[in-house]
Amino acid sequence: MFDVVHRALRGDNLAVLRRLRGRGERFDTIYADPPWNSHLPGLGYDDNYGSHQDWAKFMKPRLTLARDLLEPTGVLLCSIGPEEHHYLKVLLDGVMGERNFISDVTWHGAARGNARYVSDGAEYLLIYARDLAALRDSGVRWTMPKDRVEECLHVARQCLQDAQGDTVKASAAYRAWMRTQKLGWGYRNYDTVDADGRPYYAQPITKPTGDGPRYDIPHPRNGRPCRLPKHGWRLTEETFGQLLTDGRVLFGPDHTTAPRLKSYLESQGCVTPPSVFAVSRRGGARRLEQLGLGGAIKYPKDPAALGAWIGAVTPNDGRVLDAFAGSGSTGEAVVRLNQADGGTRQVTLIEDALFDTVLVPRMTAVLSGVRPDGLPTGLDEVTGQVLRVS
Ligand SMILES: C[S@@+](CC[C@H](N)C(=O)[O-])C[C@H]1O[C@@H](n2cnc3c(N)ncnc32)[C@H](O)[C@@H]1O
Repeated sequence: MFDVVHRALRGDNLAVLRRLRGRGERFDTIYADPPWNSHLPGLGYDDNYGSHQDWAKFMKPRLTLARDLLEPTGVLLCSIGPEEHHYLKVLLDGVMGERNFISDVTWHGAARGNARYVSDGAEYLLIYARDLAALRDSGVRWTMPKDRVEECLHVARQCLQDAQGDTVKASAAYRAWMRTQKLGWGYRNYDTVDADGRPYYAQPITKPTGDGPRYDIPHPRNGRPCRLPKHGWRLTEETFGQLLTDGRVLFGPDHTTAPRLKSYLESQGCVTPPSVFAVSRRGGARRLEQLGLGGAIKYPKDPAALGAWIGAVTPNDGRVLDAFAGSGSTGEAVVRLNQADGGTRQVTLIEDALFDTVLVPRMTAVLSGVRPDGLPTGLDEVTGQVLRVS
């Protein structure tokens, strides 16, 4: 069994990207978090690029090289702040082709309590395919795991216990808790607590369009067939029979209401990536602190949030490139994905200013479990993955 070899490449990304293109290298996923041109001081790297045009002049050749380095089914994800968001969209439409645009995702990272007008804590993730037609033909579907399922299950069980087994009271308490949480769409329908404490969604089994199977479903109370929906049922009679035997069917008060299906939160482990999500910006900074490099860069990305996106769009033996690697959050994200599922994704990280002071020490700490000051990180040592520095 060979080690997965990740790479850290020092230098101006323009020259390094040219070198990679010259060698005919190709990547499945390119993530970029370029300087946002925020003109803020103290970020740990220079973020003053002058006007929008000056910034675009810096970015265009780098994005063009990134495009050329993508596999035909490859994907580019580019983080950006409000300053250059719309200028980047126009730039990328030109470089990647408007027809290859996939999404403009909003990442809500912080609430600014002291804002005078709008609490503007969002940043953006622009996503393009190298060739959307090729991506479509590959038949791939993007999914990401639901990361808060365990917490929801725990709270729902607690609500049922507090309500002494009363599912109506438990469901009301669980919904009240849900309202205080920033739970994504993949959780919101699962708002009813079952007698065993599991949250479920009462999912319709009527077919919204088309021509579904038609068969009688007798109501358990009065024996009369439930009203047949216009487009039939969504399930075959055989599947329905099995679900009925398993206790998964919810009947209304009488035959005039269509039955529904209990769909449990824990069995729906994955969601299609959302176009709006909330993950605090502080997570990235906290992780750097844990690795003994706190404050080395302001607003590093949260590796878990990045990992969810990279994992969704990249095959588990895919090649990932980040040409604005900064502190190496993308590097850690890829290492952790492999650690979690045994994948062999390889990451190439390019960085200039923070290469020796932050990027390499961070990746070394991630892989070894030891901080630059010799203390343990508290995270598991990684085996089977190494970093080559050049
Ligand atoms: C917004 S930061 C990236 C932060 C990173 N995503 C993280 O989580 O730590 C942009 C990074 O790009 C680097 N950078 C800017 N221009 C570069 C260039 N021409 N070549 C290589 N790196 C560059 C900066 O030094 C900085 O670390």
